[in-house]
Amino acid sequence: MQLDLLSRAAKSLIGVDISSSAVKMLELADSGKGMLRVERYAIKPLPKDALTDGNIAKSDVVEAAMSEAFKAMKTRTRNVALALPASAVITKKIIVPAQASESELETQVTAEANQMASFPMDEVSLDYQILGPTTRNPEENEALIVISRRERVEERVALAEAVGLKAVVMDVDTFATLTAYEQMAFQLPEQGKGQTVAIVDIGANTTHVSVIHNHELVYQREHVLGGNALTHEISRRFDLATEEAEDAKRKGLLPDSYESEVLQPFLDSVALEIGRAMQLFFSATSLQSVDHILLAGGCAAIPGLDDVIHGKLQTSTLIANPFAKMAVSSDHVTPRNLAADAPALFVACGLALRKFDLS
Ligand SMILES: Nc1ncnc2c1ncn2[C@@H]1O[C@H](COP(=O)(O)OP(=O)(O)OP(=O)(O)O)[C@@H](O)[C@H]1O
Ligand SMILES: [Mg+2]
Repeated sequence: MQLDLLSRAAKSLIGVDISSSAVKMLELADSGKGMLRVERYAIKPLPKDALTDGNIAKSDVVEAAMSEAFKAMKTRTRNVALALPASAVITKKIIVPAQASESELETQVTAEANQMASFPMDEVSLDYQILGPTTRNPEENEALIVISRRERVEERVALAEAVGLKAVVMDVDTFATLTAYEQMAFQLPEQGKGQTVAIVDIGANTTHVSVIHNHELVYQREHVLGGNALTHEISRRFDLATEEAEDAKRKGLLPDSYESEVLQPFLDSVALEIGRAMQLFFSATSLQSVDHILLAGGCAAIPGLDDVIHGKLQTSTLIANPFAKMAVSSDHVTPRNLAADAPALFVACGLALRKFDLS
């Protein structure tokens, strides 16, 4: 299968985010009157060595978690949208003649892909998308080329097949982030028009920073920063096994000294790192400020993180809830649980949205 950034409107679709801490599945439905509904979701944890750098290291372990998640979904839907990590793809924007035929486009795109890949073309999965006319010349279109090692695509497709699912869309996690962001942009001034928004997705090991300017992705970078560091510190300080530390952290069941001696220093270090990440962004682009920081990923659920970041960076900081304007199925979803899990489901939501033609 090729990478597929285009196909939409599959009849039904589950967004599947295979990330370092868990397999996350989410299905959305059409609720009528242009409204979407969160139909069902499932999150099944993965041990910390199941993925390395976003790549599947232990496929049997991931397969078992996928199978469990799919069972918990209790859905008849079999089609899934998966994502590659941004680190597994190379992207490039090129200019193509607006009048180019399909075969001319293919030729130009293949020649470019050849330049982009450091590996043989028969090991490449390739996709491209016409983005629209360039600002300077209506006779020219901008096109986005995405390539990946075929292996990276095939291992994910095979995992889906192994648990009885069918991969119909292969996206990239940063693009899924952008799709989910569009569901939230209405909360921002001018619906996000002209705004610079940094989506900071703080996961277990990695923090993904995606900056969107006027609805376009202008920057993305990964930083080694995540909730595992906090779990590790809890486990050390309070002499708990990793799983116990993880559980106590999420439930807030820790001694009084935790907040001042462990949590606060962690929050300060996260805010410092995000400040550095913003400096890197400013030095890499012509933009010199961000209007809003949107916190996504499981760590966005840590009480007080938004305030610490806001305090340190003096930038409006919101916790990402891509379901803010969606209905919720009363049969399968507990609103309170969904509210807690929403930031961690950001990528899965972007993938599940691939069913709907929102343009
Ligand atoms: N309620 C909570 N309180 C504190 N931390 C939480 C809470 N919920 C989740 N986390 C932390 O969030 C992290 C997992 O976040 P997330 O699910 O976004 O990671 P991931 O997507 O699997 O990781 P990555 O993107 O690095 O591959 C874990 O470190 C977990 O402990
Ligand atoms: Mg993640």
